[in-house]
Amino acid sequence: MKKLREFSFPLIAPSLLGAKHELLLDETRRVFEHGFNFLHFDVMDGRFVPNLALNSLDFTLLKKHFAAFYDVHLMVEDPLKWVKEYMHLGASHITIHLEASNRDEIFSLGDLLHENGLTFGLSLKPNTPLEALDPYLSIVDLILLMSVEPGKGGQSFLPSSYERLRLLKEKVASKKIVIEIDGGINDKTGPEVSRLGADILVSGSYLFKSQDLEEAARLLLNE
Ligand code: DX5
Ligand code: ZN
Repeated sequence: MKKLREFSFPLIAPSLLGAKHELLLDETRRVFEHGFNFLHFDVMDGRFVPNLALNSLDFTLLKKHFAAFYDVHLMVEDPLKWVKEYMHLGASHITIHLEASNRDEIFSLGDLLHENGLTFGLSLKPNTPLEALDPYLSIVDLILLMSVEPGKGGQSFLPSSYERLRLLKEKVASKKIVIEIDGGINDKTGPEVSRLGADILVSGSYLFKSQDLEEAARLLLNE
C-alpha cells in the first residue's frame, strides 16, 4: 500500500463509522470496490468523547479483507496505549487529538510512529486555536481539522470551519503537511473545502447513504 504522501489529493476517505455496524464488512467492500482505498477508522474511548466507535476486532477483520490505507483517528485520552495497539494491528497512519495530550508526549508519539514507518497526525476540535499547532509543525505529517464536535457521525458542518481551513492552509503553506477535514462533509460543503485546499475529505453518512458512489464522489469534489 502507498504511503500518505504518495496519494493524489484531494481524495475522499470513507469514514467507516458511517457504515451500518452489523454490515461493516459488506458496506466497506462496496466502497473499496469503487476505488476508495483510503479508509478512515474512528476510535473513541467514552472519555475524551462520550461515545464508543469502532474497535480492534473491527480493525482486524477489515485488515484481513482489504489491502487499504488505514487512517486511524483516535478520539481518546491517554493516547499512548491506543497508539501502540493500532500500530501493532497494522495502522498506516495515526492521528491523535492535540487536546488529549501534552508537548512531551506529542513529540515522543511522533518519534515512535516515525520509527515504525507510520505517519503521524494531530487533530483539533472546532474551538481549539490553530496556534496550538505551532510547536508541532515540524513533526506532523497531517493535520485533521474537525468541522464538527468529535464524537458522532451525521452532524452538520460548522461554517466557522471554512475560515479555519483557510487560515490553516496559510499557516502550513510552505510545509509538506497534509490537511484533512472531518465532519459534515457532503455535496454542499465538500466542493467548498476542496476549493480551499483540503487534501483529504472524510465522509461518513453522506457517502454511505449514497446509492451511486461515483456520482457522490464527483459531487463531493465538484469534479
Ligand atoms: C466524528 C468522526 C467522523 C464521522 C464523520 O467524530 O470523527 O469521522 O464519522 O461522519 P459524518 O461524515 O457523517 O459527519
Ligand atoms: Zn474521524
